[in-house]
Amino acid sequence: MLRVQGLTSQFRGRAGVVRAIDDVSFEVPAGEAVGIVGETGSGKSVTIRSILGLLPSYGRVVAGSAEFEGEDLIKLSRTRLREIRGARIGFVAQNPFGALNPVLSIEKQFRNVMRAHRRMSRAELHDLAIERLAAVQVRGPERVLRGYAHELSGGMAQRVVIALAMLHDPPLVIADEPTTALDVTVQRQILDLIDSQVKQGGRSLLLVTHDLGVVAQYCHRVVVMKSGRVVETGLVADVFTNPTHEYTKQLLDAVPPAPWAQEAPGLTEQAVTSR
Ligand SMILES: Nc1ncnc2c1ncn2[C@@H]1O[C@H](COP(=O)(O)OP(=O)(O)O)[C@@H](O)[C@H]1O
Ligand SMILES: [Mg+2]
Repeated sequence: MLRVQGLTSQFRGRAGVVRAIDDVSFEVPAGEAVGIVGETGSGKSVTIRSILGLLPSYGRVVAGSAEFEGEDLIKLSRTRLREIRGARIGFVAQNPFGALNPVLSIEKQFRNVMRAHRRMSRAELHDLAIERLAAVQVRGPERVLRGYAHELSGGMAQRVVIALAMLHDPPLVIADEPTTALDVTVQRQILDLIDSQVKQGGRSLLLVTHDLGVVAQYCHRVVVMKSGRVVETGLVADVFTNPTHEYTKQLLDAVPPAPWAQEAPGLTEQAVTSR
C-alpha cells in the first residue's frame, strides 16, 4: 500500500542545516496496521509530514521515495498531493483543534472536504455528514454540524476529524499521535474508533505513537525509530518477544509492567491473527 525508501529530510535554521530523518525505510502492506514508535524527537512526525508533503517551508525531503498507488508522493506537486490527502489518504493529526477551522461551521467543513473531490447537493451532503458523524459516535450530530470546533470537547473534535478523514473512504489512514492531546479517559475510545473504522473499511493504518502498549494492541507491524533513523522493524509479535536492537529492549523495559504485562501478550496474538 505504501513503500517508503531511504527517506531523508532536513530543516534549514539559524544554526544551519539539520537532518531530522535519515534513510528511513518501511512498508505498510494492504489491510495491515503499522505502528511507528520512538521517543519524542526521534523523527516520527517528520517522517509522516515528509510523506504527506506537510513539512514547513524551511524543511524539505532531500532523498528517498514514498510509493503509494503507483506514484512517488515525494515527487508530486502540492496540488496533486492535496488531492491524494483528501481522497486516498485520511490524515488524523495530534491536535484536532489545529485540524479544524475555527471560523467555519462543522457542516461547512464537511462541504469543503466533499467538494474538493466530488459533487453532491447540499441536502445529500447533509445526510451523509449526519450518517458519518453517527458512525463515529458523535451525539447530537445535527447540533454539531451547525456549531463550531470550539464548542466541542477534545474527544468530540477528534471524532469529527476522523469522520472528515474517512469521508472519501481512503484505503490508507495515517494518524500521528491521535490521542496525546486528549483527556486520558477518551484516549482508548478514540484508538478503538480509528481501529474499527480501519477494519470495517479493510483499510491500511500507519499509526504513530510513543506508547508500545498501543502498538501491541492495534498493530501487526512496528517500526522503531531513534534519532531520525529506523533501528528495528518487523512483526509486532517478533520484535516484542525478541528485540534485536538495544534501544528496542530499553523501550520495552521502560513500559510500566502492570497493564502491559497483563494485556499485551494475548492482545498481540489476537491483533496478529484476527486480520
Ligand atoms: N518544524 C521544525 N523545525 C525544525 N526542526 C524540527 C521541526 N520539527 C521537527 N524538528 C526536528 O526534527 C527532529 C524530529 O522531530 P519529530 O519528527 O517532530 O519527532 P517526533 O518523533 O517526536 O514526532 C527533532 O530533532 C526536531 O527537533
Ligand atoms: Mg511527533
